[in-house]
Amino acid sequence: MSTLGVIGAGQIGSAVARLAVAAGIPVVLANTRGPESLDALIAELGDGATAGTVADASAQEIVVLAVPFTAHDQVPSGPLRGKTVLDPTNYYPYRDGRIAELDDNGITASETVQRAHPGVHIVKAFSNINAPHIPQLARPTGSPDRSTLPVASDSTHAAMEAIDLLDRLGFDAIHTGPLSASWRFEPEAAAYTRIYLADPTVTDEMTAPAAPADESKVRAALQRATRVDVAQRTV
Ligand SMILES: NC(=O)c1ccc[n+]([C@@H]2O[C@H](COP(=O)([O-])OP(=O)(O)OC[C@H]3O[C@@H](n4cnc5c(N)ncnc54)[C@H](OP(=O)(O)O)[C@@H]3O)[C@@H](O)[C@H]2O)c1
Repeated sequence: MSTLGVIGAGQIGSAVARLAVAAGIPVVLANTRGPESLDALIAELGDGATAGTVADASAQEIVVLAVPFTAHDQVPSGPLRGKTVLDPTNYYPYRDGRIAELDDNGITASETVQRAHPGVHIVKAFSNINAPHIPQLARPTGSPDRSTLPVASDSTHAAMEAIDLLDRLGFDAIHTGPLSASWRFEPEAAAYTRIYLADPTVTDEMTAPAAPADESKVRAALQRATRVDVAQRTV
C-alpha cells in the first residue's frame, strides 16, 4: 500500500494517522473545514502526514472513513468505488437521530454505510476500541502482548487488505464475517470497547488505561455476544 487516505481527522482519524506515520505509511487527512484547519495536527504528526480535501483523501489506495455516523453518506462514493474503506463508525440513537431499520435490529450500522456506498468495499474496523487506547495498544508484529481487533466485511479480499493494514499499524485482526454479523462488536455488545480496558468496570472509559486483548479473548467475546436492543442503547 502506498498512501492511506483518512477522511475525518478527529479522535479516531488522528489516532489511526499517528500509527500510519509511525509505520512509514504516508497519510492524507481531510475534514469538513479544509486542509488549512489541519495545520497543527499535521505539524504534530510530522513527516509523512499531509492535509488535503476529501477528494484528495478519497484518491488514496485504502481509505478510513473516520467521520460521525451521521456524516457517512455525505462523503461522495464515486472516488471510493472498488476500494477498501475502513468504517469505524457507530450508531448511537440518542446522539445520531433515530433510524428505524437500525432501532429494529433489521440491519447493522455498517450495512447502512455499505448501502450508502455501493461498489465500495466497506470493512468495519477500529469501531470497537476507544481512540485513546489505539496508540496505547499498538505493538510490532509478533509482540507477545499484541491486541487483536475484529473486522467485518462482505468482501473477503477487502477484509484481508484491512487485516494487512492493521498488522502494519500494530494490531492482529480477525475477519469475523459479513457486515450483517458485525452487531457482535457494536456498542454494548460483548466484544465492544471494554475488552481493551485494564479494568472493564470503570465509569470513564476514555481516561481509563488500556490492557491488551489477544485473539482468544476477542473470539470468546464475539462468541458470547448477544444482540443488543439498539433502540435502548445508552452508552
Ligand atoms: N472516539 C472514539 O473513541 C471512537 C471509538 C470507536 C468508534 N468511534 C466512531 O468513529 C467515528 C468518528 O468518531 P471520532 O470520535 O473520531 O469523531 P470526531 O472526533 O468528532 O471527528 C470527526 C471528524 O470527521 C470530520 N467530518 C465530519 N463530517 C465530515 C464530512 N462530511 N466530510 C469529511 N469529514 C467530516 C470532522 O471534521 P470537522 O471537525 O472539520 O467537522 C472531524 O475531523 C464515529 O462514528 C464514532 O462513533 C469513535
